[in-house]
Amino acid sequence: MKRPTPPPAPAFAALLEQRLTRRSILEAAALTPFVVGGGALFTSAATRAEGASALAFKPIAGSKADEVILPPGYTYDVVARWGESLFSKVPDLDAAKLRDGILFEPHAATLQRSWFGQNCDAIHFFPLDERGTRGILCVNNEYTDEALMYPGHPGFNGAVRGEGRAYVRKHPETVNVSIAATGVSIVEVIRERGRWRMVKDSRFNRRITADTPIEIGGPARGAALMRTHDDPGGSVALGTFGNCAGGETPWGTYLTSEENIQDYFGNLDDLSARRDVDAHVVQSHRCWRMWKAHSLYGWENVHARFDLAQEPREAFRFGWIVEIDPRDPSRPPVKRTALGRFAHEGATPVVAPDGRVAVYMGDDDKFEYVYKFISTGRFDAKNPRANRDLLDAGTLHVARFDASGRGQWLPLVYDPKGPLNAAAGFHDQAEVLIKARAAAHLLGATPMDRPEDIEANPLTGRIYVACTRNDSRTAASTSRAYSGREIDPGPNAANPRANNTYGHIIEIREANDDQTAREFSWEVFILAGDPKRGRLITNIEDLEPGKVGSEDTYFAGYAKASELSAIGSPDNLGFDRAGNLWIVTDGAQPHDTNDGCWVCPTSGPERGKLQQFMSGPVGAEICGVQFTPDNETLFFSIQHPGENGSVESPKSHWPDGGSAQPRASVIAVRREGGGRVGS
Ligand code: FEO
Ligand code: CA
Ligand code: CA
Repeated sequence: MKRPTPPPAPAFAALLEQRLTRRSILEAAALTPFVVGGGALFTSAATRAEGASALAFKPIAGSKADEVILPPGYTYDVVARWGESLFSKVPDLDAAKLRDGILFEPHAATLQRSWFGQNCDAIHFFPLDERGTRGILCVNNEYTDEALMYPGHPGFNGAVRGEGRAYVRKHPETVNVSIAATGVSIVEVIRERGRWRMVKDSRFNRRITADTPIEIGGPARGAALMRTHDDPGGSVALGTFGNCAGGETPWGTYLTSEENIQDYFGNLDDLSARRDVDAHVVQSHRCWRMWKAHSLYGWENVHARFDLAQEPREAFRFGWIVEIDPRDPSRPPVKRTALGRFAHEGATPVVAPDGRVAVYMGDDDKFEYVYKFISTGRFDAKNPRANRDLLDAGTLHVARFDASGRGQWLPLVYDPKGPLNAAAGFHDQAEVLIKARAAAHLLGATPMDRPEDIEANPLTGRIYVACTRNDSRTAASTSRAYSGREIDPGPNAANPRANNTYGHIIEIREANDDQTAREFSWEVFILAGDPKRGRLITNIEDLEPGKVGSEDTYFAGYAKASELSAIGSPDNLGFDRAGNLWIVTDGAQPHDTNDGCWVCPTSGPERGKLQQFMSGPVGAEICGVQFTPDNETLFFSIQHPGENGSVESPKSHWPDGGSAQPRASVIAVRREGGGRVGS
């Protein structure tokens, strides 16, 4: 479906004039549905946007309890646990035997290829009927938490100390289990007699793992840096990993994002010692902070392609957006290299007024950037096949947020005249895309406080960027190197808080509401924290860089602290049909409570009135936040419950309770007796 033409928007210059009364910019936005994602057969929640409706639930308090807590009148179903088989012929994981080393058994990796993967993250729901009581869930399985899988594993802290290498050498079979537990799970789900369950043996069910063959598409296909011993043509990579947030296209495909790929590659020091390797290759891996000796996961001890010294270019084949067709298992996934290579948090496509497709993306690392890709071709709703390779050609841009409240999208384009030329380490457009971080840095993009998920409001088209936190930004601008890669530039208007422990959310409005625009206006929407503890700022003009205290907060100007819930570390974002912004978190909370879900209106008198809707179990981050088209179900991923525990000493027993091992799972939240979630 092509995006309906929006009513005339105020001229961009006029919008800037209104900078001093910035809230009026946002209230001038037209309540016109935009095409944000969508399914090829049935429309998604976002495409059915409608007029604003009030939120009506009793907010919950933050909690440290090992359970999922919801407002009165709500309940949830566990839809898919790590280790549940997608097929009736394959037995489920017997989690009670993890402590006995059941995953050391010879067939464990083969079984895991048919099991739901570990540590679920992004969820996208592709409806198979009009209401969305049946559909396909595409779920990322970001990474494996080995201490929660294998007895005696030293955990991530032990791996950092080098103990992971010894463990992997003693139990090499665990690497293949972990490879099979990572990637993406695609499962059919159905709501029957009110409850959701996975449909075993559905023709849509499949796993994409960290060694599934994946086509390389776009400008970097076949590029010199993409060629390896196993793939001299640079056209097929094995697997996808670090899959964090995601997105869905208007033509009904799923986008999965390769984020922390650096943790899978080891022995950078050995590579540095090689005299036959281009210094730019080593420098690029340093920029990503790949591991000098043993990697975090230790896979290089079993598979040479993860050893930088043996295969220096394998790492260039990761850090991309991967497109998957959930309805056609015969079509191979494709890495869309035109969208650039960085620690991709997610990818949100929006169809612009002229039919071109903009894709908004964050690079989740300290002092990294916000990106927008604009396709060359146009979306054709009548000819789905014509859209198949739309993401292979276009221009990648990076955001510069200026103190005036305006911003620029800077194109990352190779130019022999510079600045992105051979002298700077870029020999062609493929290299610009492969080393997008370095290119963005050179263009003067704004270093952000870890841009995580970016989502578009289906009513207004405004773009919301979650900056999760950054405690390495110092109060004064200095030239201090950060991890050998970046300069700590001190606070700026878009990242106004030094030692930004709790993070913030930015709201962007494209010039003339056109997603292909090169200019935009922006403002801070939420500065997270506890509104009852620090200074609750109500005038946006007071968000001056460097003058915002670490406990100060701002909730789009909402002034009633007693009605606001404390929040920290916004990560994934979502929207309901009424344009309310749903936020799930990963990490530091003002009162050390568990991660959870919060929601606030984005327009009207209650704009910014943030209330907590859900609290997760011990040790878990909450991801997903995906609605069915009727808004009667809200899916969450409960990732890493019991983090920092082990199979011998679990710190959580969710979801099964008693003495059960914790298991990352997808849940479906709904109202008892039916009705829309939140209203
Ligand atoms: Fe995987 Fe940026 O969270
Ligand atoms: Ca995330
Ligand atoms: Ca995160």
